[in-house]
Amino acid sequence: MINKISETRSIFDNDFLQISDPQSLEELRIKYLGRKGIIQQLFDEFKEIPRDEKKVVGQALNELKNYIQSRYEELKAKFEEEKSKQELLFDVTLPGRVKTIGSKHLITQTLNEIKSIFKSLGFSVYEGPEIESDYNNFEALNFPADHPARDMQDTFFINENFLLRTHTSPVQIRLMKSMKPPIRAIMPGKVYRNEVISAKSYCLFHQVEGLYVDKDVTFAELKGTLVAFLKQFFGKDVKYRFRASFFPFTDPSAELDVWWQPKGKEGRWLEVLGCGMVDPNVFINVGIDPEEYVGYAFGMGIERTAMRKYGIDDIRILFDSDIRFLSQF
Ligand code: DAH
Repeated sequence: MINKISETRSIFDNDFLQISDPQSLEELRIKYLGRKGIIQQLFDEFKEIPRDEKKVVGQALNELKNYIQSRYEELKAKFEEEKSKQELLFDVTLPGRVKTIGSKHLITQTLNEIKSIFKSLGFSVYEGPEIESDYNNFEALNFPADHPARDMQDTFFINENFLLRTHTSPVQIRLMKSMKPPIRAIMPGKVYRNEVISAKSYCLFHQVEGLYVDKDVTFAELKGTLVAFLKQFFGKDVKYRFRASFFPFTDPSAELDVWWQPKGKEGRWLEVLGCGMVDPNVFINVGIDPEEYVGYAFGMGIERTAMRKYGIDDIRILFDSDIRFLSQF
């Protein structure tokens, strides 16, 4: 029996080395020290041995029991200490971290609003590429190579034939080349101009182009559509005026101004869009018969429109990604 006791001890030592968490420690306790555990079994066997062996074996057995008990207790204490240390790492009184949820940029919100107003007026939405051919951006829109109107726009050229589009009007060309009238669409997107950056102008901004081509489109319809848009976007009392203007791709042409009255400052007219009846030369360039079809077009600057609506007086703030500004909308 003495042998069995020392064997048990080395088996226990081996088992003990495997313990790495409180749960397996508890299993070990039950295996050795439980009511039907190994130690109890040894005590049961102990009853059967001859009297003269009892003293030595009893001593050895008690030693084994105490040994197992104290190893168990040591490790249990160690686990408990670890646990409370870990708990100290969490300060349950700290306030939680609030996740900030992003919001749509003011320009995206404005674009979405403009799109939904024009959709309700029967317009579809199309987009075109920001890298455009010189032909679509100028030539097809009736700006000949040496036309002085080309100087109106300082352009980022990529090479002789390609550029960053200076307006969304080339998307009109793409649409008219690829589909048959009637066409009633708006075309939102980014445009680029090589301008000095200031409170009023930036090298990049957004426009929404509009085009309606059919057999009997009139200037009165153009005005009616734009005024309906203005009233929905700015409110019924919006103050506006149409002013005769010039664009190579429309004839007649006009600009639409909206009255801008910043709080505490002097009010003034702010130009929000250009518009007109599609020039017959443009129709010829895209293969539409100008004897059969007429159309109107318009193009508006989104930043200006948003600035007018929300009382913003510096365009640059729209490109700053400053959350203190953006989170107000
Ligand atoms: N493309 C012009 C610009 O960027 C705006 C414009 C004017 C667009 C008249 C049009 C239009 O479609 O008919 O200044």
